[in-house]
Amino acid sequence: MNFHVITLFPEMFDSPFKCGVIGRAIEQGIIALKVHALRPFGLGNYRQVDDAPYGGGSGMVMRPEPVAAAIDAVDSAHPGLWKILMTPQGEVFDQAMARELAARSPGLMLIAGRYEGIDERVRTLVDQEISIGDYVLSGGELAAMVVIETVGRLVAGVLGNPESLAEESFAAGELEYPQYTRPEEFRGMRVPDVLLSGDHRKIRQWREEQAHKRTARRRPDLTGRR
Ligand code: 6GU
Repeated sequence: MNFHVITLFPEMFDSPFKCGVIGRAIEQGIIALKVHALRPFGLGNYRQVDDAPYGGGSGMVMRPEPVAAAIDAVDSAHPGLWKILMTPQGEVFDQAMARELAARSPGLMLIAGRYEGIDERVRTLVDQEISIGDYVLSGGELAAMVVIETVGRLVAGVLGNPESLAEESFAAGELEYPQYTRPEEFRGMRVPDVLLSGDHRKIRQWREEQAHKRTARRRPDLTGRR
């Protein structure tokens, strides 16, 4: 699985994927991450990438030509990528979308917008627009990283133990059950007896029940969804 990012701030991607699960997968060649600077595609001697909005108003808007040129360049060098524009106006990202994206061979091209916006015509150049939630980021970089991290760990071979995937929150459309490790008693709080019982059928039953209760209480919006 290949991830290509187009951004004005390639440095932002230097450290987050050096460590952890995704860092290891990149080292092992299971996934690849290539970050493409948008600036060299800017216009004129100053490599301008933004301009004032037609119709007035505050802030700057990203011009379409540099973004289009960058998309075309990456597309020519790496054909077949699913092109995604990161924007707060996109479809809201969730685990189901991550699963769909993980199946997009040969990979994803993620375009991070900056400033107050991006020229509307850029939308016609991409396959999908994605937001990571209802709040405002200064740019799409962090959002693209969230997508790469979430999709990347779904790629076969990235996680050591594939069973842990199935048990995770949201995989089953629910929050996870409570987890305990040693010690048996911590500040007067004991590990539930059932987990020490060795009765695996009972343990599974208890965990399912806890997951249901917790989901109903904390995230009623998730109940009955898959
Ligand atoms: Cl994709 N971009 C920006 N700028 N803000 C966001 C976002 C994306 N997703 C949530 N907030």
